[in-house]
Amino acid sequence: MKSETFAADRYDRMTYRRCGRSGLMLPAIALGGWHNFTQRDAAFAMMKAAFDQGVTHFDLANNYGPPPGRAEKVVGRLLRDHFRGHRDELIVSSKAGYLMWPGPYGEWGSRKHLIASCEQSLRRLRLDYVDIFYSHRPDDQTPMEETVGTLDQLVRQGKALYAGVSNYSGAATRHANELLRGMGTPLLIHQPRYHMLDRRIEDDLLPVTDELGIGVIVFSPLAQGLLTEKYLDAIPADSRASDPSSPFLRPEQVTEQVRDKVRRLQPIAAERNQSIAQLAVSWILRDARITSVLIGARTVEQVAQNVAALEAEPVSGEHLQRIEAILSQ
Ligand SMILES: NC(=O)c1ccc[n+]([C@@H]2O[C@H](COP(=O)([O-])OP(=O)(O)OC[C@H]3O[C@@H](n4cnc5c(N)ncnc54)[C@H](OP(=O)(O)O)[C@@H]3O)[C@@H](O)[C@H]2O)c1
Repeated sequence: MKSETFAADRYDRMTYRRCGRSGLMLPAIALGGWHNFTQRDAAFAMMKAAFDQGVTHFDLANNYGPPPGRAEKVVGRLLRDHFRGHRDELIVSSKAGYLMWPGPYGEWGSRKHLIASCEQSLRRLRLDYVDIFYSHRPDDQTPMEETVGTLDQLVRQGKALYAGVSNYSGAATRHANELLRGMGTPLLIHQPRYHMLDRRIEDDLLPVTDELGIGVIVFSPLAQGLLTEKYLDAIPADSRASDPSSPFLRPEQVTEQVRDKVRRLQPIAAERNQSIAQLAVSWILRDARITSVLIGARTVEQVAQNVAALEAEPVSGEHLQRIEAILSQ
């Protein structure tokens, strides 16, 4: 298999932001494989389009598919066949915590689940290590010492370079950070949901990550596609909301209230020569406490459009105030 040729000026095209108070720089926009890395050709086209623009970070998890595991298998083949010689230019992450296999060890935060799942992910990805390994969700039934102690162990074994948590509250993040600090493995990063229609982390989590120097990469920045023009008139057939294999965005979530907000954001996007998707990305990056915006995409065009959000000026001043007025209603 031949190694691919990527754009020579890719690192001039991207903005890199420091991940908390760590040594790691992440691209302002990263690409995730939750839903759309099931077909090898399409996934490669999107990964190449992204890497050509300097997107060095690809985010995965044990259960991404469908079926669960498929996305890591696809990316494993692509890394081997097309990204040979580029491993040290890439940040590949994976996670464990959501249901992956039957029985009491197939999910949550036990040492048993996290170790077994990490080993499985490494085999699917055909990698010796992932750059970031996450506890995908908090587990009230498992001692925090056990969950984060396992992240520490995976880092010490060289199976992950950095530890992360996802979907943890501010208080749980503080606890995880304190324990990990005591073990000598810093908590690099948190991966929460954040977009114009869900701003819960602003009060709970961001003050904590900022104080503790933990990086933040936010998922579903376009509210899974709601923050685009596509749902304004109807639910198109080739959309996540109409895909029965994707139960996470249901037709009933496409409400008139959401449409109304998007319509009212349109003039602001137009004044900035942006699409709604681009405005949604730029709006997130206004906050320096956020390291990276983790987009999902179904097509190369969506990748290109979303990355091009970086070409616009930061959202500020009057635009920011008008957006605030729309979102707070
Ligand atoms: N840690 C966690 O618990 C967690 C949870 C969820 C996601 N994530 C991570 O975050 C990543 C992104 O999440 P997400 O897929 O929900 O992000 P998203 O960017 O909010 O949604 C992606 C979807 O939006 C639509 N879209 C994207 N760009 C568009 C554009 N320019 N114009 C029109 N539509 C556009 C596409 O939907 P259509 O298919 O309808 O075209 C695409 O599949 C995931 O891949 C995963 O890595 C993590």
